[in-house]
Amino acid sequence: EKAGYDHFMMKEIHEQPKAYRDTMMGRVAEDGRSVQLNELSMTAEYVKDIRKIHIVACGTAYHAGLVGKTIIETLARIPVETDVASEYRYRSPIITPDTLVIVVSQSGETADTLAALREAKRNGARVLAITNVVGSSIAREADDVLITSAGPEIAVASTKAYTTQLIIFYLFGLYLAQTLGTKEQSEIADVLGAMQKLPEQVQSVLDQKAVLRQIAESISKHDNLFFIGRGVDYAVSQEGSLKLKEISYIHSEAYAAGELKHGTLALIEEGIPVIALVTQEELYEKTLSNIKEVKARGAHVLGIVNAGAETEAAKSVDELFAIPKTLPLLSPAVSVIPMQLISYYASLARGNDVDKPRNLAKSVTVE
Ligand code: F6R
Repeated sequence: EKAGYDHFMMKEIHEQPKAYRDTMMGRVAEDGRSVQLNELSMTAEYVKDIRKIHIVACGTAYHAGLVGKTIIETLARIPVETDVASEYRYRSPIITPDTLVIVVSQSGETADTLAALREAKRNGARVLAITNVVGSSIAREADDVLITSAGPEIAVASTKAYTTQLIIFYLFGLYLAQTLGTKEQSEIADVLGAMQKLPEQVQSVLDQKAVLRQIAESISKHDNLFFIGRGVDYAVSQEGSLKLKEISYIHSEAYAAGELKHGTLALIEEGIPVIALVTQEELYEKTLSNIKEVKARGAHVLGIVNAGAETEAAKSVDELFAIPKTLPLLSPAVSVIPMQLISYYASLARGNDVDKPRNLAKSVTVE
């Protein structure tokens, strides 16, 4: 049942290239130049009237929503807010009939996310669900559903569900762009072309897992560490930090790289590991200078950078891991893979039950 892997988590990490292909299958036109989301019942007229989008989810699905915000705002220029479902209802969110509420849930059963969906509908908003389970409560109650074709996810720590949620956000963002005309057809085709390459790029990271195992084993000896990044790298850092805490029980925090000097830098001391995600070319110089700030205080920095940028980055970090380069917007679909593998190997090195971490349940049906 684990297909030769020691744990479901490792099996599911390795299923990601296939899960990406399955999630894109049938949703890209034959010539590869446009998106077709035939399962959506929303009309072009409705899409043109959307004034804002709320993305609501918990945990890892919330982290996918943080990337989703950047994707939709970049491609479709519609303002997006992303909320944790257990907070959403209690802040009196301004939900109007021209608000599209997107709920994201692997299981489709998370109590807070389901309650947010109901609240949105009560206020006259349309609800789009991104879920992995056909026939789940969230899939049944939403107005529209986009299924992530990840296949069953057994390990408590979510991996392929998160990455296929990203794939759906890319496709939906492109669908909005194509409907609203916010991007040229050629740009849409370029993004889709780059998406077709993601499965093999993910595979090439998986093929380097031995290197990540060594990195994880040295990390597993520490009790505290930091993740830093800017833009979507910050969003992926938050997911990396959650994954590591969840299964290795090592305390970590994810920080927007530019925010460190506003207090957190005080925690940087000799030898503390810092994992810096540096995939966004526009922010490259800025993040490198934040890396210098932590290095100057004795941090041991692992830089995760795009292939091709190693020489430049090597001057600033202690260790490097290069990932295949894709479009800046698509990089989370590649850069999260080393995070998943580091978490897995750190958990293993600490002798934890990787698939069933203490205190946690796969599906959270209480608020
Ligand atoms: C972490 C993890 C959780 C879930 C969260 C939401 O690895 O799996 O944070 O993402 O409990 O679950 P779903 O997506 O089923 O609503």
